[in-house]
Formats: sequence, structure tokens, C-alpha cells
Amino acid sequence: MRAVNVNANYLSVDEDALAPYLKRAEQAQQKLYMGDGAGNDFIGWVNYAAELSDELIADIEQTAKRIRETADVLLVIGIGGSYLGAQSALKALLPPFDNEVKIKAKSGLRVYFLGHQMSDRYINALLEHIADDEVYVNVISKSGTTTEPAVAFRIVRQFMQDKYGDSCYKRIVATTDKVRGALKTFADSKAIKTYQIPDDVGGRYSVFTPVGLLPIAAAGIDIRALLDGARAAHGELKSADADNAARHYAALRHYLYERGHNVEVLVNYHPQLCDLAEWWKQLFGESEGKDGKGILPHAMNFTTDLHSLGQYVQDGERILFETVIDVLDDDAGLTLPADEENLDGLNYLLGKSISEINRTAMLATILAHGEGGAPNIVLQLAKLDEYHLGYLYYFFMLACGISGYMLAVNPFNQPGVEDYKRNMFALLGKPGYEELAKKLKK
Ligand code: PA5
Repeated sequence: MRAVNVNANYLSVDEDALAPYLKRAEQAQQKLYMGDGAGNDFIGWVNYAAELSDELIADIEQTAKRIRETADVLLVIGIGGSYLGAQSALKALLPPFDNEVKIKAKSGLRVYFLGHQMSDRYINALLEHIADDEVYVNVISKSGTTTEPAVAFRIVRQFMQDKYGDSCYKRIVATTDKVRGALKTFADSKAIKTYQIPDDVGGRYSVFTPVGLLPIAAAGIDIRALLDGARAAHGELKSADADNAARHYAALRHYLYERGHNVEVLVNYHPQLCDLAEWWKQLFGESEGKDGKGILPHAMNFTTDLHSLGQYVQDGERILFETVIDVLDDDAGLTLPADEENLDGLNYLLGKSISEINRTAMLATILAHGEGGAPNIVLQLAKLDEYHLGYLYYFFMLACGISGYMLAVNPFNQPGVEDYKRNMFALLGKPGYEELAKKLKK
């Protein structure tokens, strides 16, 4: 079995009905590889991981080592594609409660994210929380001008200057555009170590660039194994085989979309995957939601959300389909303890592992929701480790590029994100936005 497998057995899709969608997916993939589709100046991600030089990987590992040796805390500043990949990898691959364990042990690098919103409470609390720690900073912004990370970076710079004086710049790494942008100019002026975000890779497709790799490596995760997974996916998913998982997934999404299922819910049964869903939501939402079209990506954590949103999924408006991530090898070895009194009535479960009970709940839910009119695609992930996660990221990115072309949109731009920014600049009094400010205030 491949690292990621699409199981469509719970959907009642007949092969003849799906065939045209598979054909469209194949054509869309060819368009992506030929580089003659919309947004073709942003398809560098297709081969980036496969072609990444050993020199750059070693350099990133070296910086990560220095961070781990000199700091208790790494602050990662970024928004959207500049933080969601790293955040999701850390959540998926580090043990739960990792930061807390390290505080207790008084050793090990803890990673905190900021600059992905502008809550002063959050920033204040974070800086108070790490006041006595040795700190390193990785500020990530391709444009270098995005308001949220720029605001956070100014505050963090002040914090670092107060803590370390002028030597603070040795404790900052900037990941940004090669030549343009305010962050690059600032980094050069202070001799800050920088990594480049390639021109032809957009934020949400950048997890295998230094954007994702540096914080992931600093957290102690094996980025070579992650890249091995991406490279395997890059090779395997090129194939024209009928079981090409990326094309199959893209085809099923469109089959369901054209039958009124406008909302896709990414479902996990492990809280460690909840940030992967945040990354996935940005990937598909920003890539496809344009020109009045696109499946709305949504996420749910089961079985938790079966007790909040489960009612809607089973019985609400019939606009949903689910994509369930089924981690096949997920047994952490916990079983239900015996209890002679059996007052909770659980003794019928003796001998079963908690993992088996969880997966049975998954199967029961898939069957119930399918019956209720919320079809389920199942993505089987052989295991949750670096290699398989790398494979899964690449699988989703490729499926998203294919799916965007099937929808006839440009999957690599995000013009809609600019509208709130223009209004915010105008209302905050940024020079050059005076006319818009007058209009909005009226
Ligand atoms: O996918 C994208 O391109 C966006 O989500 C960006 O990553 C996000 O807006 C942050 O931009 P920047 O890295 O320029 O600060």
C-alpha cells in the first residue's frame, strides 16, 4: 500500500459516472506539469522538494542546531502560509503537551507562534510567559509588509533589544523574498541571517521551503524524512495509473461538488491533526474560493465534534461531504482497564485497545453519515510520522493544484485577501488610502 490511499468504498459512485471527472483530473495535472495554466509563475512548488539541494538542507539543520543549543524558546512570526505548515507539522509529530513537558524538564526548545493575529492579550501574555527564557526569533514573510507579522516583529524586536542589546540581531533569522521587501532591507541592514522564499512558490505551497523547514527542524523533527515523503509523493503521483491518489481525490471532490455538496469537512480522529486541518483549509480555501466558485473547506475533530456538530452533519442541510483521515497504524498501546463492578457497563470492551474503539467509532460514523446523505471519502494514511506527513502535504498540494484547474480558476493567487487589507489601511489612516477612507467612513 502507498503512504496515502483514497478509499472510495463508502461512496456510492459508479465507475462510469466518475470516469469523466478522472479524465478532467488527468488533463488538469498535465496542464500543471506543462506550465501553461493560470498562475504558472507560481508552480515552483511542484518540483521544489524533489530538487532541494543537500547544501540548503544542511544549512537549515545547522541553524536549527544553533537555535536549539542557545535558546529555550523559538518565536515564529508569520501568518497564513508563512506559519500554518510548520504549526501543523509540530502539532502532528511532537508528543502532545510537548512545550509543557519541556518547561517541567527545564530543557528542550519550545516553539511559539505569533504574528498570525493582532490580539494584544495574546502577544502580552506570550512575552510575559517567556520573559526569563533564552529566546531566538524566526520572522517569516515573503512580502515583508504583511501587517500582522510586521506589527508582531516590531514588538518582538523591542523585546529582544531590551533583553540582549544590539547583539539581539544574532538571535534573529528572517525568511523572506530574495531581493524585495521591507524585511529583506531590514535584515541586510542588521546583518541578520536570511533564508529565501522562492519567487515561484506561494505561501500556502511553501511548507517544504525554509518557511516550513527551519521551524520544523528547530523543533527537533527530522526534515530529511519529511522531504523523503514529499519526494516519494512527487514521483509516485506523477504516474498515469488509475490509482493515482491525487487525481482520484480531486475527481471525487468535483463529482460531489457538482451534485450539490458545496462544503468539504476534513475529519480527524486525533487532536494532533487539528492544525493540519488549518493548513489544509488555507490551501484549498485560498486556492479555489474565487470567481464565485469553490468548495468551502471546513474541519471537524471527531469524536469530539460528534457531540456538537454531529447533529448537523447527520441531519442538517444536505450540502456537506466529509474527507476522513484514517491513520491505519495509530495504536499507542492503551487498553481499557478491567473493573469487576462494571458500573459504567464498559466490560464488553475488555480486550479491545482504545485505538480499536476509536477506529470502530470512525467506521460507525462513516456509515451513519453516508446513510444520512453526507458522503465520506476516506484518506488512508499508513502511519503518522515524518515520512508519511511529508507525503500527505505533497499529496494535498498536488490534488489542490489539479482541483483548481478542474474548477477553471487560478489556484495560485489570492486577490480576495487584498480587500480587507485595503479597508484596514484606509481606516487606520495609512498614507495613500485617503479617498477610500472617506468613502468607508461615509
Ligand atoms: O498563501 C499565501 O500566499 C498567503 O496566505 C500568505 O502566506 C500570507 O498572506 C502571508 O504573506 P507574507 O508571507 O507575504 O507575509
